[in-house]
Amino acid sequence: MTTIRVPATSANLGPGFDSIGLALNLYLTITIGEARSDWFIDHEMGADVPTDEHNLIIKTALALIPDLEPHRLVMRSEIPLARGLGSSSSAIIAGIELANQLGNLDLTDYDLLQIAVKLEGHPDNVAPAIYGGFVTATYDEVEADAVSAPFPAARALTFIPDAELLTSASRAVLPAKLPLRAAVTTSSAANVLVAAVLRGDLELAGRMMERDQFHETYRGKLVPHLEQIRERARECGACGTYLSGAGPTVISMVPTQNAAAILDELETLPLKGRWLNLAIAPAGLAIEK
Ligand code: HSE
Repeated sequence: MTTIRVPATSANLGPGFDSIGLALNLYLTITIGEARSDWFIDHEMGADVPTDEHNLIIKTALALIPDLEPHRLVMRSEIPLARGLGSSSSAIIAGIELANQLGNLDLTDYDLLQIAVKLEGHPDNVAPAIYGGFVTATYDEVEADAVSAPFPAARALTFIPDAELLTSASRAVLPAKLPLRAAVTTSSAANVLVAAVLRGDLELAGRMMERDQFHETYRGKLVPHLEQIRERARECGACGTYLSGAGPTVISMVPTQNAAAILDELETLPLKGRWLNLAIAPAGLAIEK
């Protein structure tokens, strides 16, 4: 039996809009069962998640190989849907890898990235889902390139609101143009963020996570809990707090040794949702046979 395992991801990290992301230790797993006359996904995710070829995983696999032989799949997912933790990217990567396994396509990680980014439109979730760790990536609508590096020792204190926020709704509030000054300030903060991570400087990386003017400025009204969490997290010693992907999830990056104490404080905020104390996943897509 073959099992495909893909991690959750958190994109942007503040100023790295559409270009920086990291993998987190929540996983989607797909186990490939027997061949059958039609596709069937066995899962316990509720009626909203299709069990047939309307499911994004199978849709993606069929986009690569339209006459792929149907199989029974067992799907388990710890990644919440429509919360800014890369659930659709993980499904896309799982679907490409499903076609890769069943169709013997022999795809490299680079091939996977090129296919996935065309389906997703931006690389900051699909790239860390493939490579793991901290990823900086670029995509010019022709080719994507990505570099993965280890993230300094840290925990990602993750607030997942009860309410969903669709990426399309959260992208709709973004302006078509940015003032040059805001773009310069933010892209330079993203550069320093990457350099700080490579040097293992969590404190500096965290400060840069709070220097975004590409998207959080505009999305703030959709996610009022961002500033509330950021303020309290700062008082408690967090290094940096940012909107995870298109939201509504918010992540505070904290030193490992203080994580439990800071989480206790953050849990006292009057917010509707749940908190998780997550690790950065050093590895991305994995196949177990
Ligand atoms: N970079 C993307 C965004 C991630 O912020 O819209 C969400 O998919």
